[in-house]
Amino acid sequence: MESGELSQAEKELIQETWEKVSQNPQHHGIVLFTRLFDLEPDLVKLFHYNSAQFRGAQECLSSPDFLQHVSKVMLVIDAAVNSLENLPSLQEYLTGLGRKHQAVGVKTESFNTVGESLLYALCEGLGPAFSTQARQAWTKLYAVVVKAMSRGWQESREEE
Ligand code: HEM
Repeated sequence: MESGELSQAEKELIQETWEKVSQNPQHHGIVLFTRLFDLEPDLVKLFHYNSAQFRGAQECLSSPDFLQHVSKVMLVIDAAVNSLENLPSLQEYLTGLGRKHQAVGVKTESFNTVGESLLYALCEGLGPAFSTQARQAWTKLYAVVVKAMSRGWQESREEE
């Protein structure tokens, strides 16, 4: 889990942009998941609380249980932003998270769609402040997160 690829300037761009977005994580998280469900509508089926299946993206997006998942995702991103100087410290947690997602039926390719949706939400939230350089920095950070989650996912798959 290499954080060395992120330059100091990129770390600062991530911190500055996240500072704005993290003032309203719920809103930006909903933008992220709305986009994710547009791109991969079948992901809605993976969320079921008390065995109840949602009838569609809208119902899922307005469920308090699901909104907790939105908060969980935003908290993981927040942890990554707060650990830019020591991303390996998150490795164990993220591989464990990858394992859990393998268990609930998420495919690793869907993690990439989450990445695309994250960039979309950042762009929506920041407008012109989301520069090409900021996009590049976020792409690198998210790649680090996904790499660790995918490793856990793969380990879990191999144990089956
Ligand atoms: C590919 C799209 C994803 C799907 C379909 C998905 C689905 C799920 C499901 C069904 C659960 C268990 C129920 C729940 O806690 O609400 C869960 C838990 C969780 N997810 Fe996701 N997830 C996705 C992506 C992510 C991403 C990208 C992150 C973080 C970067 C994340 C963070 C979490 C966390 C922190 C938990 C709680 C784990 C625990 O109980 O310890 N999820 N996810």
